[in-house]
Amino acid sequence: MNVDLVLNNAKVYVKKHIVDCSLAINEGKIFKIGKEPAMPKAEEKIDLKSLLVLPGLIDVHVHLRDEGKSYKEDFYTGTAAAAAGGITTVLDMPNNKPVTMSVETLRNRIRKAEKNVLVNVGFYSEFPENMTEIKGIIAQGAVGFKLFMAEQVGGLNINDDTALFEALKILAALEVPLAVHAEDNIILKETEKKLKLSNRNDVDAFLEAHSKEVEVKAVKRMLDMAKKANAHIHFCHISTEQALKAIIEEKKYGRMITCEATPHHLLLSADDLRKIGTLALTMPPVRDRKNMDALWNGIKNGWIDILASDHAPHTIEEKTAESIWNVKVGIPGLETMLPLLLTQVKNRRLSIADLVRLMAEKPAEIFKLEDKGCLEEGRDADLTIVDLKQKYRVDASKFFSKAKYSPFNGWKVEGKPVKTFVNGKLVMDEGEIVAEAGSGKIIRRE
Ligand code: DOR
Ligand code: ZN
Ligand code: ZN
Repeated sequence: MNVDLVLNNAKVYVKKHIVDCSLAINEGKIFKIGKEPAMPKAEEKIDLKSLLVLPGLIDVHVHLRDEGKSYKEDFYTGTAAAAAGGITTVLDMPNNKPVTMSVETLRNRIRKAEKNVLVNVGFYSEFPENMTEIKGIIAQGAVGFKLFMAEQVGGLNINDDTALFEALKILAALEVPLAVHAEDNIILKETEKKLKLSNRNDVDAFLEAHSKEVEVKAVKRMLDMAKKANAHIHFCHISTEQALKAIIEEKKYGRMITCEATPHHLLLSADDLRKIGTLALTMPPVRDRKNMDALWNGIKNGWIDILASDHAPHTIEEKTAESIWNVKVGIPGLETMLPLLLTQVKNRRLSIADLVRLMAEKPAEIFKLEDKGCLEEGRDADLTIVDLKQKYRVDASKFFSKAKYSPFNGWKVEGKPVKTFVNGKLVMDEGEIVAEAGSGKIIRRE
């Protein structure tokens, strides 16, 4: 029997060690991991020349847009950006046009994605108008639900505790996680209104509106609700020390509370935002050193479960609007995340084991992505292949994303994704997309 592919002379991350070995791949799965002489015959062989092979990285927080927002990004460009950035699976956020919040909107989104994606894609849904539809949305394949607390996006009145509690209980019974953007709508909107009335229109006004308290209040409210409903809450992009502390307290009781941090909250400060300007504007915003250090500490101690990009592409015009209140918030992150994190590995702030835990093992475990997250015989052949030695500068003009700008543009990085395999298929090779649209798979919750 000939397998489809054998990768030789690889350094493979298996069982928490980097091992010199070969990998045989057949029908999209890892067939064998072992020494070269033990490999089966293969249709194709690739000499990896000592490159590092990591489990395919998973980004649980991506806005792929498309449909009514395809002018910002579409399924092809967004997943090309993922493949170029060494990401083999992404989870797509629901704040689309139309909002993903029903069986029908999810079905249409999946239908369009199927033909266009280059990597594996799973979908979040916002809450529907009628909570009895939650079950149907899960049956349609949603991997999780998302709640945007800064303003109402889905069918749930975010300021109605009773309705929120009922919705949480349904998710808890179905063991489906709820990803939460935690910013308190009431304080946020009140402060924003005051600032606008006093004609404030600068980066600091945005920081005042999106204060640390806005995040902390929303996190505490959700933690309280999650406890009562026994629900699994995954906090997106935690940015403050206080919110992280509150989360850690709950984790100590063994509750299903998980959280993520983004490269921009770890690497950019509010001072950087003031210098770079609105291209670095995101919500929650980047904070001061003290909060950044708290996030790094959270990573070191294993309190932060996941690193995710929150890839949120907009047009350059939207990013540079005259008034701060009209600037679209969000940063394209799929193509910078891995190079930035590998640079942190080089700087010894992170280890390869941390990186794999935060971007493969934990995401697969938390979102129940079967056969993903680690390299083992029988699992999906999603592989992120990196060259740790390449030194270069981030060049946003070369992004596959439609958003060809970055607050990290020009940053010196060390370590590059050089090949991306998705279900055994080479999708990105030396910075080129080499697979056809539609070669990625849609991930549905089993
Ligand atoms: O900065 C952000 N951009 N934060 C969000 O929560 C939404 C996102 C977007 O969709 O652009
Ligand atoms: Zn968010
Ligand atoms: Zn987001």
